[in-house]
Amino acid sequence: MSVIKKPAEKSRVAAEAAELFSLEGRTAIVTGALGLLGHEHCLALASAGANVIVLDLDDDGCGVFASELSDRFERTTFGVGTDITSRTSLRAACEYVLAEFGRIDVLVNNAAVNDKFENPLMAMELSGFEQYPLDAWERSIQVNLTGTFLTSQIFGAEMARVGNGSIINVASTYAMVAPDQRLYQRPDGIQAFLKSPAYSTTKGAILAFTKYLAAYWGNRGVRVNSLSPGGVENGQENYFIENYANRTMLGRMAQPADYRGALMFLASDASSYMTGANLVVDAGWTAW
Ligand SMILES: NC(=O)c1ccc[n+]([C@@H]2O[C@H](COP(=O)([O-])OP(=O)(O)OC[C@H]3O[C@@H](n4cnc5c(N)ncnc54)[C@H](O)[C@@H]3O)[C@@H](O)[C@H]2O)c1
Repeated sequence: MSVIKKPAEKSRVAAEAAELFSLEGRTAIVTGALGLLGHEHCLALASAGANVIVLDLDDDGCGVFASELSDRFERTTFGVGTDITSRTSLRAACEYVLAEFGRIDVLVNNAAVNDKFENPLMAMELSGFEQYPLDAWERSIQVNLTGTFLTSQIFGAEMARVGNGSIINVASTYAMVAPDQRLYQRPDGIQAFLKSPAYSTTKGAILAFTKYLAAYWGNRGVRVNSLSPGGVENGQENYFIENYANRTMLGRMAQPADYRGALMFLASDASSYMTGANLVVDAGWTAW
């Protein structure tokens, strides 16, 4: 039996739902904000009402994107070139944010490197585990792991000091399951490249770090969760898109906007009883 709601009640229910996900007046920081998903995270947070702080390596790019967000959403946004592997750079960004906004409510640790071997002739040779370069391994650990540690330490400490905040660490399906290297096999049977050991390892460690920090700051009002996205369609070769889609229950790769709802949920009071968790949004990839 369906219950027919009166218009006034309907709008009250809608207002309550909007309130639950609202980030009105809150300050949200996104690292790697100029990348494919970072850009979307900023749009999601601004559309929910947050004042967004755009952090990435390119200072000019951060400024341009921040002013685009300001114009589009009529929010106070701010962009500053920041290297998450540098404590000095992060401290400077934190001082800016506190001077301008006086508070930090949400931190999205999104910046990461994902090895791409530009020269296809060298790709197989370098991406195989036996030859995988030590400097690539160390760079991934430095950005994906140490960068997340430093960013959480600097911005999260401010959250813990005031007793409120939500940290979202972006992991990956490859944090939970090994890459299926068959996906990178071309139709002629040739293996184009192999997904790197550093990516999976650093993303797996992000899940452990999330639980550590959630436990550490739980009694200080700071929630810490991971978001594990599946693969995003982004101009890859057709054979790969098809291979990937076939491994998902929904039969497709993600579009960048597919993660907006999950991000808004983790950032807002809608997830107020959630910490130390990993939200998997992968079209069923890891459930099969
Ligand atoms: N794209 C996908 O299919 C996918 C799938 C699962 C998980 N993820 C995760 O989502 C996140 C974003 O991925 P993406 O595809 O948007 O990547 P991307 O390469 O498009 O963007 C990453 C951004 O991080 C920035 N960055 C790199 N090093 C930095 C540093 N030292 N300091 C500050 N910024 C730095 C880069 O400049 C870039 O703008 C990553 O954590 C990634 O592992 C992506």
